[in-house]
Amino acid sequence: MALVVDRIGTLVTWDEEPVLHDAAVVVDGGRVVWTGPAGRAPSAGERLDADGRCVVPGFVDAHTHLVFAGDRSEEFAARLAGAPYAAGGIRTTVAATRAASDDELLSRARALAAEALRSGTTTIEVKSGYGLTVDDERRSLEVAARVTEHRTFLGAHVVPDGDADAYVDLVCGPMLDEVAPLATAIDAFCEEGAFDEDQCRRVLRAGQDRGLDVHVHANQLGPGPGARLAAELGAASADHCTHLTDDDVSALRDARVVAVLVPVAEFSTRSPYAPARRLVDAGVTVALATDCNPGTSFTTSMPFVVALACRELGLTPLEALRAATLGGAAALRDDDVGHLRVGARADLVVLDAPSPVHLAYRPGVDLVHRVIRRGEVAR
Ligand code: NIG
Ligand code: FE
Repeated sequence: MALVVDRIGTLVTWDEEPVLHDAAVVVDGGRVVWTGPAGRAPSAGERLDADGRCVVPGFVDAHTHLVFAGDRSEEFAARLAGAPYAAGGIRTTVAATRAASDDELLSRARALAAEALRSGTTTIEVKSGYGLTVDDERRSLEVAARVTEHRTFLGAHVVPDGDADAYVDLVCGPMLDEVAPLATAIDAFCEEGAFDEDQCRRVLRAGQDRGLDVHVHANQLGPGPGARLAAELGAASADHCTHLTDDDVSALRDARVVAVLVPVAEFSTRSPYAPARRLVDAGVTVALATDCNPGTSFTTSMPFVVALACRELGLTPLEALRAATLGGAAALRDDDVGHLRVGARADLVVLDAPSPVHLAYRPGVDLVHRVIRRGEVAR
């Protein structure tokens, strides 16, 4: 049934006129069918009175690692006491994930996706990468397939044991054969302690040959080749991007690679924040994501990410909101979401606030009044 959300104080559509005041939106058949001035909407079956609240597109979280078991709060506590983050911590989660049943993995991933939905995330990407055997990566992607349509194979997360090149052979061969039908994209952790440039290139090209989109965990822990490799391969996104040279920034811009920034990873590991301002000013499309994972960023909250991006990354509230919606959609190459133009998927969030500025102004406060996903009230 059609639904009109009326008396919206501030409506963010990212249309030609990106922000409307005193507005309404009509959704039908799971799509946005009309936006315009409040009180002028065509009549619809149901009416939701926004009573002056702000309506924004549902958040698009383009980078999460939701399929895992175990707990690393002790590792986090040790970091608070001064220990550094190291990629090797991933193996702790790999052991717990391998030991977990399919049902346990699914119920944990579903619980996290539901938590994300309650905070306004209506589109979510989910990576594998804590299985690292053919069987456990397939199981992880099967779980992801029950949670989302955006599923990324991250077999090249870390070398589980033994020889790195032999493991890369496994990832590009039998593992990819098994998981390619389940995945929509491929990713590799290009970093010292994980995989080098040549190894990542092999993995990502093998995925591209199967028609998968490419994401790269790039330049997270230090400077390196990840961002430039993403540009060379025409990747959809380079993610993290904490340590970028000016050449890296130009390469991302010229190749139209989206920089997916994940500031809670930096918050939780006490690392420097990514150069968001430099990226935006250079003309790179920026996305914001949670990176939800048990090691570096155990949050599903896009409102918190937006608040951090304003406070620590130097983005304005509208830039941060754009990155958390339209930017995420660009990273996932999904034109249907991240905006509320006519024809968009009817994914929207009614905030208990008069404007999106409140996402940063009231950090840590649950401002989500309603979530509408595919035209249905989900919260
Ligand atoms: O995005 N960088 C690699 N992967 C995750 C961390 C994984 C972990 O520590 O479990 C990240 O930060
Ligand atoms: Fe990540």
